[in-house]
Amino acid sequence: MWSKLPLFPESASTISGRVDELYFFLVLVAGFFSLLVFSLVFYFAIRYRRRAGNLRSADIHGSTGLEILWSVIPFILTMVMFGWGAVLYLRNARAPAGTVEMYVVAKQWMWKIQHPEGKREINELHVPIGVPIRMIMTSEDVIHSFYIPAFRIKQDVLPGRYTTMWFQPTQAGEFHLFCAEYCGTEHSKMGGTVHVMEPGDYERWLTGGVAGESMAAAGAALFESLACSSCHRAEGGGRGPALEGLLGTQVQLEDGRKVLADETYLRESILNPRAMIVGGYQPLMPTFQGQVSEEQVLQLIAYLKSMKKPGAPAAK
Ligand code: CUA
Repeated sequence: MWSKLPLFPESASTISGRVDELYFFLVLVAGFFSLLVFSLVFYFAIRYRRRAGNLRSADIHGSTGLEILWSVIPFILTMVMFGWGAVLYLRNARAPAGTVEMYVVAKQWMWKIQHPEGKREINELHVPIGVPIRMIMTSEDVIHSFYIPAFRIKQDVLPGRYTTMWFQPTQAGEFHLFCAEYCGTEHSKMGGTVHVMEPGDYERWLTGGVAGESMAAAGAALFESLACSSCHRAEGGGRGPALEGLLGTQVQLEDGRKVLADETYLRESILNPRAMIVGGYQPLMPTFQGQVSEEQVLQLIAYLKSMKKPGAPAAK
C-alpha cells in the first residue's frame, strides 16, 4: 500500500505490507506528538510572554486528572504497538508447513547458498514466486545478518549455531540482499541479489547449467566416507542410535533430559557428540569438528532428513 512512496523499498513478500502498516502507525504517533509538543512550546512562549505590569499567577500544585490522562494515553498506545508487533513477530517466527528449505553459510565476506537439489550460488539467491522458503543459516567466522529489505526480513547469522527465517515472495523481480551486521573491512560489499522467478523459469534455472548432486546425495556419500554408517545402522543394533526418521522427534538423553532433534541438535551431535549422549548408548562417537565444513554438515543434515524409517516410502 505504501510502496508507491519513494521512501519505502519495494514490497514483495506476504509480510512486507503488514510491516509497513505497523511502521506507518509508529511514524504517525511519533509525528503527531512531536507536532503537538512543538506547537505547545511556541504557543505557551507567546501566550505567557513577559508583559509590562505583568502579575504572576498562582502556583499550581499538581493535577490528578492530568497525571492520569498523560499516563493512560501513552500506556494504551505502547500496548497497541507491543501487541501489534508481537503478532507480526510470531507470525514471522513460525514457518508454515511445506516450506522449501535452503541453506546459507556466511563467511567474510560472502553468502554461500545451497539449494536442496544441489545447486549452489554465491551472493545470489534464486527462488520461485509464491512458495514459502525457509532459510537455515550459519556462519563460518563472525556474526553476519541476512537482510532483504523488499521482504522486510532480517535475521542474524551466527557462528556455531543455526538460525532460521522464512518468507514468501509475492512479486517476480530482482531485489537487494544485504549483510546488516558489521563484520569487518568489506562488510559494506557483502551483499547480492535475490531473483524471484516464475515457477517454470525457476525449474529451468534449477535444472540448467552444471547439474550437481543433491544435498542429500552429497550427504549420503559423506555418511559413507566418514564411516558414520559403521555405527549408525538403519536396522538399529549398532553402536550408535539409528537415525532414520530422527528429525523432529524428541530424544531421551542419558542424563534424563529430553531434547528436540532439530537441525541445531544434529549439528551439535556431529561436531560435539559428547555434549548430548542418547539414552542407552556409550559416549563413543568422535568429534568431527575440523573434519567437515559447515556446508558438509548441512549436507549430512539434508541426508538425515531424507532418511525415512525402514518400510516408509523412499525419499526422493
Ligand atoms: Cu557480513 Cu556484515
